[in-house]
Amino acid sequence: MHDRFQGSHSTEDAAAVAAFERAVAAVAAHRPLAGAALDEAVAHDPAFVAAHALKGFAALMLGRVELLGPAADAARAARAALGQGAAPTRAEDALVRALEAAVAGRFLAAAVVLEARLRFEPLNFLLLKLSHALRFMAGDAPGMLAATAAVVPEWRPDAGGAGYVYGCHAFALEEAGQFRAAERFGDLALALAPDDAWGLHAVSHVDEMEGRVSEGIARLEGTRSLWSRCNNFQFHMAWHLALLHLEAGEGETALHIYDDEIRPQPTDDYRDVANAASLLWRLKLAGIGVAGRWDELIEIGKRRTHDTTLVFASLHYLLALSAAGERSAARATLEAWRDTVAQGAGDQARTAGDVGLDLARVIVGEDGRRPDYAGIARRLPAIGGSNAQRDVFLQTLAHRARDAEDWRALGDILAVRRQQRWADSFERRMGATVQHCVA
Ligand SMILES: [Fe+2]
Repeated sequence: MHDRFQGSHSTEDAAAVAAFERAVAAVAAHRPLAGAALDEAVAHDPAFVAAHALKGFAALMLGRVELLGPAADAARAARAALGQGAAPTRAEDALVRALEAAVAGRFLAAAVVLEARLRFEPLNFLLLKLSHALRFMAGDAPGMLAATAAVVPEWRPDAGGAGYVYGCHAFALEEAGQFRAAERFGDLALALAPDDAWGLHAVSHVDEMEGRVSEGIARLEGTRSLWSRCNNFQFHMAWHLALLHLEAGEGETALHIYDDEIRPQPTDDYRDVANAASLLWRLKLAGIGVAGRWDELIEIGKRRTHDTTLVFASLHYLLALSAAGERSAARATLEAWRDTVAQGAGDQARTAGDVGLDLARVIVGEDGRRPDYAGIARRLPAIGGSNAQRDVFLQTLAHRARDAEDWRALGDILAVRRQQRWADSFERRMGATVQHCVA
């Protein structure tokens, strides 16, 4: 059977496929209840391969050590389901092989498997959405753009999921600095899929990168009814809104947004913690007090010292630990990552060895006499996430270089930033320092 997103399944259970479609629709629009819909699909057909596979990917993408076991269980269930009933489809086979690679910590290899199948099924939405997410997390923006660019010419506006595919392409274009094209595809995404929060988010990133501060605030305020219905992605959209207010010199407004919409509840999802820690750290760098807001984040950072699932997550936990001077927990995190690098298994161990550990030492302040701040800045994309998210680390590196009076490094870091974005207030502040001290 086919689902309405051009996925092909060996099951003949229409109720199971209908539940699976609801799950894919929720994933596409970043809405809640995808997990419940997947459970329903499996309840209708326990051998529903794609439902098991999607459960596995969903667990992995939460980036936490305690979900690696459930993800591996889902991969085993998906593999077992492949051998039951009717002959599996090639897309099902690809989903299972990709999940097995991802469970082994090889997200990029998983994306390669999905994209190999997309060459034959370019309209299979789920394969594309998963490869997009995997490359995003693995820090491969060029690969993310190559994947969407390869399929977009094949898509028609009437194919199921077209708007969301254009939204993914818009985001990949934005991360590559192709802002006009990103806007064009973002607008097209929203025209076809008015609930496409990811497409809206791509255009919001363009606002951030080009310094369209008041226009960006107006866009997010005007689309609140869309993104406030998202799952925890709504917290990330609110984070973007707060960044724009911060740039406008409205730190108090940013703090109100933090309390009401970025961190309304103390969740333990690394993406939520990243939004929170990143904004508080930026406020700290800007000299704005945040009272006791770090406290609950510090507790999470302490609980996650030994969780080396994701470099990007750990670096944000370290922001919280460092902000509070929690040196022993910060050192324990560094030690856990040193062990992971030494064991050398998976993409994240490589990323930590290439850049993550060096950056972690800078955040913690245990980086020796003369770290290569600019080199870390250039290698930073490998930690994953977006240019806007990684900017908190570029700002940190710039501050450290300034404190060390390493003016050449500071100039190089600002040059890295300038390749991505407009000359914002941080650039103006720091750039003036460089000119003053070099002159
Ligand atoms: Fe974002």
